[in-house]
Amino acid sequence: MQGGRRIIRMYAEPIELQDERFGVMFVSRDITKEIEIDRLKTELVATVSHELRTPLTSILGFTELLEHRHVDEEKQMRYLSMIHNETTRLERLVSNLLDVQKIESGHAQQDFKVESLFELLSDILEIHAGSTELHAFHFDCDETIRVSGDPAQLRQVFSNILNNAIKYSPDGGNIAVNVSCDDDVIRIAIEDEGMGVAPADAERLFEKFYRVQNEQSRNIGGTGLGLAICKEIIESHGGTISVCSELGNGTTMTVELPIVA
Ligand SMILES: Nc1ncnc2c1ncn2[C@@H]1O[C@H](COP(=O)(O)OP(=O)(O)O)[C@@H](O)[C@H]1O
Ligand SMILES: [Mg+2]
Repeated sequence: MQGGRRIIRMYAEPIELQDERFGVMFVSRDITKEIEIDRLKTELVATVSHELRTPLTSILGFTELLEHRHVDEEKQMRYLSMIHNETTRLERLVSNLLDVQKIESGHAQQDFKVESLFELLSDILEIHAGSTELHAFHFDCDETIRVSGDPAQLRQVFSNILNNAIKYSPDGGNIAVNVSCDDDVIRIAIEDEGMGVAPADAERLFEKFYRVQNEQSRNIGGTGLGLAICKEIIESHGGTISVCSELGNGTTMTVELPIVA
């Protein structure tokens, strides 16, 4: 729900007694929650059907080709790799859905540890840097900074942000991860030079299932759950996550976490 704005439905009914009008009764009902649930339902159906059907159709198609046609070894490998990619996409959808469910029901177990932020981010950066040849990565972080949190969850947050930075800058460019500290917070800024988002979209990126629908982003797959999961995780660590972006001009995601004394 955005900025505390509420949606109220009003009914007006005349009150009459023996054909005489006594007055009008007004009933106002807060339907904010109902509207939100309705939106989630619509977007869930749209996302799940797209994210499920697209990979399923490919998997079905390629397995049929492998089964019924004689294909040379090179093609076999190509088809198998497509099947593998599409299966990964399905797996991601299912685990995203399970994560959201787990976090929302309060069943996500957290195992807090204090660890080196430098090492945590270097690991994730290395994995992502290996997945693209179009992007140049820059990393600036003091090696002594430590962070307190659930290591698996924090990894999930930064992986998703980096994954987005790569995915939504399909033409490549620089991706910079800059870490700074002040008295109370550690600030981790992840900046890309990709497609960016318009202000109206930026406000909604952290909503479940929200995905920007425009010419450029339409062909990029996703569930719209990644940033909603990031927000839940970061807030459960006493931190904040925010976006600064300009359409066509790149995006900066900023995570702030409490400093470790
Ligand atoms: N770095 C980015 N640059 C441009 N758009 C982004 C970026 N990160 C996220 N977005 C937009 O925010 C939406 C929600 O992101 P996310 O919750 O991770 O879902 P997903 O990546 O599965 O679509 C994306 O669909 C995309 O439109
Ligand atoms: Mg994502």
